[in-house]
Amino acid sequence: MSSVNGRTAVITGAGSGIGQATARRLARHGCPVALADWNEDGLEETAASISGPVMTKKLDVRDRQGVMAFAASVKEWAPQPLGLVFNNAGVTVLQGVADASPEDDQWVLDVNFHGVVNGVTSFLPILLEQRSGVIVNTSSVFGLVGFPHQSAYCASKFAVRGYTEALRHELRGTGVRAAVVHPGGVKTNIVSNARFRADFRGDHQDVESAAREFATIARTSPERAAKIIHEGVEKQRSRIRVGPDAVALDLLVRFAPSRYYDIVERLEGLVRRG
Ligand SMILES: NC(=O)c1ccc[n+]([C@@H]2O[C@H](COP(=O)([O-])OP(=O)(O)OC[C@H]3O[C@@H](n4cnc5c(N)ncnc54)[C@H](O)[C@@H]3O)[C@@H](O)[C@H]2O)c1
Repeated sequence: MSSVNGRTAVITGAGSGIGQATARRLARHGCPVALADWNEDGLEETAASISGPVMTKKLDVRDRQGVMAFAASVKEWAPQPLGLVFNNAGVTVLQGVADASPEDDQWVLDVNFHGVVNGVTSFLPILLEQRSGVIVNTSSVFGLVGFPHQSAYCASKFAVRGYTEALRHELRGTGVRAAVVHPGGVKTNIVSNARFRADFRGDHQDVESAAREFATIARTSPERAAKIIHEGVEKQRSRIRVGPDAVALDLLVRFAPSRYYDIVERLEGLVRRG
């Protein structure tokens, strides 16, 4: 048994997109999967497409007591030792800082950052006790660069990155590892599930229109993203970039740490002109 395949995996946000594809992929690699999402229909759809052992829990990752109870029930259910905990559930809002809704900013920070903290602190004691396992927290390429009208999302994803890197160093010598994932554009429901006030160019009046544009920009499929993440974890990578856009932006921000957005804007202009 490798450190990953065949061991029980926990995945939050497993009812759609990257979480759903990761659940299906890990199940095909022999992992019993414990899946959580607040979208019960999505969760059932994922579970129905998996033939191995699967448990599901309707759960809001912001609910600390709920996540702790989920960890306890996974420990009891797990047919194999717990190997992987993917804190993947995430949301965004499209809005400018000047007229941002504080409630929407808080929602994004609560789900994307505190949801990850709830997952880590609930499952870490189990992993430490068995002295093995990997915690995989989903940040974003927007945890590497700032982007207009994504301020709360960027803040939450930079926070996930910082938290996970600190955790990774703390875990030295314990047998438990932590990895952070930075996806670029992945063709999922992230924008259609978003809250919408305004996009930064003023091109869109509603979330449906923004989601249609996102579908043309996002190049990586959820299945490809799941493969990159799975292989990254197997290779014991601590930082997993998903897609050529994530790799390119990661390099760009090192090369031009304060001017990178000038270059992004110019490239975007070229792409949009076709
Ligand atoms: N798609 C992209 O381009 C992209 C890029 C970078 C990072 N990400 C990150 O990848 C992760 C997965 O997103 P996705 O792209 O698959 O989007 P998605 O919308 O398809 O899936 C996200 C899932 O999280 C669930 N969720 C949202 N809030 C929740 C909550 N409070 N409690 C429990 N479940 C909740 C949703 O119901 C949904 O099933 C997110 O953290 C997202 O920020 C996505």
